[in-house]
Amino acid sequence: MEPAVRGISAAPSEVSCDLLIVPVFEDDSLADLAGLDEAAGGEVGRARASREFRPKPNELFVTRLAGGQWQAARVGLVGLGAAGTDGEAHLRAAAARALRAARQQRAQTVAFLLRGAIDAERAARAVTEGVLLGSFDDRRFKTDDEDAAPRVLRCDIVCPGAAAAEVQRAVEVGRTLGEASNRARELANAPGNLLTPRAFADQARALLADTGVAVEILDETAIERLGMGLLLGVARGSAEPPRLIVMRHEPPGAPASPVLGLVGKGVTFDSGGVSLKPADGMEWMKDDMAGGAAVVCAMRAIGGLGLGTRVIGIVPATENMPGGRATKPGDVLTGASGTTVEVVNTDAEGRLILGDALWYARELGATHLVDVATLTGACVVALGKAASGLFGQPQSWVGAVQRAGERAGERVWPMPLYEDYREQLRSETADLMNIGGREAGACTAAAFLRVFAGDTPWAHLDIAGTAWASDSRAGQAKGATGVMARTLVELASASESW
Ligand code: BES
Ligand code: MN
Ligand code: ZN
Repeated sequence: MEPAVRGISAAPSEVSCDLLIVPVFEDDSLADLAGLDEAAGGEVGRARASREFRPKPNELFVTRLAGGQWQAARVGLVGLGAAGTDGEAHLRAAAARALRAARQQRAQTVAFLLRGAIDAERAARAVTEGVLLGSFDDRRFKTDDEDAAPRVLRCDIVCPGAAAAEVQRAVEVGRTLGEASNRARELANAPGNLLTPRAFADQARALLADTGVAVEILDETAIERLGMGLLLGVARGSAEPPRLIVMRHEPPGAPASPVLGLVGKGVTFDSGGVSLKPADGMEWMKDDMAGGAAVVCAMRAIGGLGLGTRVIGIVPATENMPGGRATKPGDVLTGASGTTVEVVNTDAEGRLILGDALWYARELGATHLVDVATLTGACVVALGKAASGLFGQPQSWVGAVQRAGERAGERVWPMPLYEDYREQLRSETADLMNIGGREAGACTAAAFLRVFAGDTPWAHLDIAGTAWASDSRAGQAKGATGVMARTLVELASASESW
């Protein structure tokens, strides 16, 4: 499905392909590309002079190359903004933008030219990620393929003069990361009838085959044996049994600690349960396992890249349905940690299953925790789709997660965890309630999770706004985004910094 990507070392004019992508910086003279304007019949110079093409991020201009010495059939100028600022992020986005355009233009072979003062390996990796992200087109559930743009078969990354082996290695890393995001997008796009908790567990097993990551699937009996009353309380209303997906990356010779524990919300469909959601937009709740998808696919990349740090992944997978045996508002559940919870709203189910999963990650020896969840509509109100919400403690750990997000090109923004939010969760009946009233909904949800993280360094990423793109943008197709898969891999690969 994704194009074959490789790094090549060639003169730009000699690259033969359907579409040659040339990134253009602000105040860029294109002096290194002698003969390009001539080959384009003067169109490159004209578009720049008339400002039909401006070298800003997301801008794209395509024209034919007919005359002159250039081998490519067409050239596409993509804007990169000012040289030296956010270079990798802009390259990744420009490559995704260009690949989406390439498909629409029916280009089957593409080349992306690396230019300017950017490190060749980092650039090649970012471009490869962008190429894979921009190639994503999820047509698995369509039988009528009339509008399908043909896929791009090959993309060469042209790095004149760079060391081929190093660039090739960077391309492999970029491919692994881009694939991780795309596989997570497929999982989250899959409809709830096809991606049940059992199917999700099967898919996780298949995605992790041949990566060296050990997968164990706990069924409802094993979950009960662990005493996970919070997860079982959410699953009760459904005819589909829950699963707990447990993944272990244990590189030979790795030190006993640190152990990174990744926890992802895996609600394969969230109807709200007895506290039923309104019908409008409920279909989007098939993506309520996007956090779990990010964790599964991050584990796949962590194994595939052979990272040297121990990592445990835990995904509690369940539906949230209003069946006759469903948990009711006012019910009290007991988690595996022994903590009792008064369920005031059955639609606040994510924090319940994550409570048991965080406890289990600690049981299994995690020394540093991150959970990823489409947790609250309140986080979407606070940050929109511009960033994922980041909570946690201590600050050093939260900072490490934020920096990993920046490197991966996935924005996260720090949110507070004041004691006040924990107080909003005080229950008359049990140790805590599962909702904290109308105010600060994203923060009270985080305060709930904190109880289960205890004193282990922990970060919580609320991706309710960022997991789904509601319209297609230049470089991003409509639908699941796969967000945080790459950030988690970045974090795992930087254990020396935390
Ligand atoms: N899965 C939802 C959160 C959500 C909302 C994700 C919108 C993506 C878009 C979560 O389980 C939920 O229902 N949260 C409730 C919590 C409330 C009952 C305290 C919410 O945000 O409304
Ligand atoms: Mn819910
Ligand atoms: Zn939910």
